[in-house]
Amino acid sequence: MTDTTVARTMGDLQELAHGTDHDYAKGSPHIRHQGLRDRIIDQLQAVVSETIDRNGQCRLLELGAGHGTFTDHLVAAGAQVTVTEMSEPSARVLRQRFRHNPGVTVVHDPDGTSVSKVGELDAAVCISVLHHIPDYLATVSGLVERIVPGGSFLSVQDPLWYPRRTRTSMRLDKGAYYLWRLGQGSFRRGLDTQLRRFRGVFDETKEADMVEYHVVRDGVDEEALRTLLAASFEDVRVQRYWSTQNGGLQAVGERFFPSSTFGIVARKRG
Ligand SMILES: C[S@@+](CC[C@H](N)C(=O)[O-])C[C@H]1O[C@@H](n2cnc3c(N)ncnc32)[C@H](O)[C@@H]1O
Repeated sequence: MTDTTVARTMGDLQELAHGTDHDYAKGSPHIRHQGLRDRIIDQLQAVVSETIDRNGQCRLLELGAGHGTFTDHLVAAGAQVTVTEMSEPSARVLRQRFRHNPGVTVVHDPDGTSVSKVGELDAAVCISVLHHIPDYLATVSGLVERIVPGGSFLSVQDPLWYPRRTRTSMRLDKGAYYLWRLGQGSFRRGLDTQLRRFRGVFDETKEADMVEYHVVRDGVDEEALRTLLAASFEDVRVQRYWSTQNGGLQAVGERFFPSSTFGIVARKRG
């Protein structure tokens, strides 16, 4: 499929963005920067081991696993993992990568409905994926319904809800992104896209407007997620932090800039 083809479903669009040979690290601060990556791995390991302590096992669903950057760590911590992927090429990579690992089941999920079909879970994790899903609250609700008492939920690496952020926070975040983007080519296409967004025009057939759905609109509402999760879990925490693609600006921003990104962890499903 080429970029000029009219893509109709989110599955088609995710495949355009995450096709064969897609490099998941390229635009992903949480993979590029060792510090962020290590923190996420620590959190994943903590969630799995706490869940095993409470439930005696950890049947875990990792939504939108990409090429499985974090899946190995979940398995190493003791989870039996089901990974889902909307993009068939990425699901193929996952199948190949984990073909000898009976602890990993790969599900290609072109229409994002597999959550309603999985069995009981002890934990669910979403790494840099909720901002791709138009109705992420419904998706998280569906996951929570599958999680048994004592279970856990973790999501990381989504943009904080824009309407709640200060103008300075938004400017620093977008400025850092554009500086990085300048070095990535397709500048003309990027500029056209920005101009359309500035006018509030979104084209549902265009990968640029649909794949990073909430990054190009309003971010992800961390407080709505907190409220949703607090109805089912004893302990819910939102963790805010700075993240950007450029390494130098990541280091500076971590020390001096307001947070741009968040993770949320919910423990002890009631
Ligand atoms: C930014 S990538 C993150 C991949 C991986 N979690 C990581 O951190 O390396 C988002 C991935 O989610 C997938 N995706 C988007 N919506 C999805 C959905 N509803 N169900 C399953 N996968 C989805 C995309 O195909 C893409 O591979």
